[in-house]
Amino acid sequence: MRLQLLLLLFHFVSLPDATSASSRPNIVFILTDDQDVTLGGLEPMAKTKKLMTEQGVFFSNAFVSTPICCPSRSSYLTGNYIHNHGALNNSIAGNCAATDDWQSGPEKRTYATYIKEAGYRTGYFGKYLNQYGFNKTGDNGPGHIPPGWDDWMGLIGNSKYYDYSVSFNGVVEKHGNDYHADYFTDLIANRSIEFIHNTTKLHPDDPFLLVAATPAPHGPFTPAPQYADTYAGMHSPRTPNWNHHSKDKHWVVKEQAIMDDQRINASDTIFCNRWGTLRSVDDLVGRVFDALNQTGKLENTYILYSSDHGFQMGQFCIPGDKREPYEHDIRIPMLLRGPGIPANETRHEIVLNIDVAPSLIAMSGGEPPASMDGRSFFEIARGGKVEPSEWRTDFLVDYHGEGKPQCECVTCPIPPPDKFHEIDCSNNTYVCLRTLEGGADGRDSIYCEFTDTNFYEYYNLKKDPWQLTNIIGSADAGEVDKLKTRLDYLRKCQGESCRK
Ligand SMILES: *[C@@H]1O[C@H](CO)[C@@H](O)[C@H](O)[C@H]1NC(C)=O
Ligand SMILES: *[C@@H]1O[C@H](CO)[C@@H](O)[C@H](O)[C@H]1NC(C)=O
Ligand SMILES: *[C@@H]1O[C@H](CO)[C@@H](O)[C@H](O)[C@H]1NC(C)=O
Ligand SMILES: *[C@@H]1O[C@H](CO)[C@@H](O)[C@H](O)[C@H]1NC(C)=O
Ligand SMILES: *[C@@H]1O[C@H](CO)[C@@H](O)[C@H](O)[C@H]1NC(C)=O
Ligand SMILES: *[C@@H]1O[C@H](CO)[C@@H](O)[C@H](O)[C@H]1NC(C)=O
Ligand SMILES: *[C@@H]1O[C@H](CO)[C@@H](O)[C@H](O)[C@H]1NC(C)=O
Repeated sequence: MRLQLLLLLFHFVSLPDATSASSRPNIVFILTDDQDVTLGGLEPMAKTKKLMTEQGVFFSNAFVSTPICCPSRSSYLTGNYIHNHGALNNSIAGNCAATDDWQSGPEKRTYATYIKEAGYRTGYFGKYLNQYGFNKTGDNGPGHIPPGWDDWMGLIGNSKYYDYSVSFNGVVEKHGNDYHADYFTDLIANRSIEFIHNTTKLHPDDPFLLVAATPAPHGPFTPAPQYADTYAGMHSPRTPNWNHHSKDKHWVVKEQAIMDDQRINASDTIFCNRWGTLRSVDDLVGRVFDALNQTGKLENTYILYSSDHGFQMGQFCIPGDKREPYEHDIRIPMLLRGPGIPANETRHEIVLNIDVAPSLIAMSGGEPPASMDGRSFFEIARGGKVEPSEWRTDFLVDYHGEGKPQCECVTCPIPPPDKFHEIDCSNNTYVCLRTLEGGADGRDSIYCEFTDTNFYEYYNLKKDPWQLTNIIGSADAGEVDKLKTRLDYLRKCQGESCRK
């Protein structure tokens, strides 16, 4: 009798838990590159909005801790801030996919290694880290399949749409420029769908983790032929900071000239083409959904959608780039749907790139390792009540400017300010404290230190959401001291101390 009661209780307690062994949920993570959320980045994605936003949770305050590819992607993988995973920039010297430091350390403790360990079949398809697979000194070449993945198709190097190579399970596969055979977003979709079919057939009892990581909408911004003219003639949003020359910004931004018609056209062309590339990503989302539906897996699958950072197109006279501590660069899309996640709801808590690894592990039923700096937002998505005092109200933004030895900037010699170029220099290096407290009296600000040039920026985003006026000169010294102390704390935090 007592045993029966106990069994009954056990049954009752374990039933609502989607993570019981027989029905552990599948997980799909779709990661784009450079997709903003503040300048209309989700607008061209009708299917994604219908399947994800209307049928899941939208995080209205999702950010990255660094607005650059390789360091941010390394944060997605490890759940760590830059200072704890050590990938500083997009080059091997900066530990992007490097053999010695990245591959022998942080890469061995990504979310994939934990989730595979827990019995999942895992597959990764798309762009990995900018320096992956080249066979250059220090990167181990395309034969290297990062630990944690059963099935692997990693792009060799940085974002491309045509004329690229991938490592398909360790073997190099070359692609040219025939749309039907080579368009990379479509290839990622095709292999992802194959993975779903193969896995459900060959390993019907195992849950799976699938990652589809598109270079889109990153440069070279090449839409599929059917979307090449879809957005012709449109232009980027003319936000208050668009083509706005700011005298009170750090050197590299202040140096930008007002854009002339030619640069405006170049910037708007980027806008149109980015939206074109996103239509193929939208198709990918739709096709992955269809495959999950066909295999009967949709109802038991979590789908997370995000981007490695944002982008700007003409804001502060920068025709097209990221790398700056402004909202369009650091805000990202973050969408989640799946069993137990309510439809068409918005969450306002701050969620970060470093939260993705712990969240994916939590979805698989695991306990996120204490060494991860981020926190799982899975409970928040499910509607679990989180006391405001229990969740973060600030975070660290950390960026290491890139430059070549010849001129200390990415483009050498430094082009005149009216010429279109990538905008970065070694001294575009900064740390910021972004605070967002919520409530009518809550603080909404960002405080940044450009240590190399002894320069500071501080914005009250409540009054000045487009970051037009740097208020560091008029700010209360005690208030700045507090921000500085908190920033110094977060710059050194590790694991649990980052979650305080
Ligand atoms: C993807 O699969 C579709 C349908 O099977 C096919 O028509 C298309 O050519 C494939 N594209 C690539 C790039 O493999
Ligand atoms: C799926 O299985 C087929 C048949 O074994 C194989 O050719 C294909 O490469 C597999 N696809 C993936 C993405 O692993
Ligand atoms: C840019 O200029 C070209 C050539 O004049 C024109 O065809 C194109 O429509 C313009 N693009 C935008 C976005 O205005
Ligand atoms: C799943 O497939 C069924 C049958 O083809 C269809 O009726 C249903 O609308 C599909 N569901 C989704 C979410 O696509
Ligand atoms: C989603 O919610 C919004 C209001 O928050 C509402 O206007 C809209 O109709 C809802 N959409 C669906 C598909 O339920
Ligand atoms: C990346 O960081 C490393 C280590 O600080 C540095 O040596 C290298 O020059 C940086 N790369 C670029 C392109 O700035
Ligand atoms: C930043 O570095 C560049 C390139 O070395 C240099 O031209 C510029 O003067 C520096 N800016 C400041 C404020 O030191």
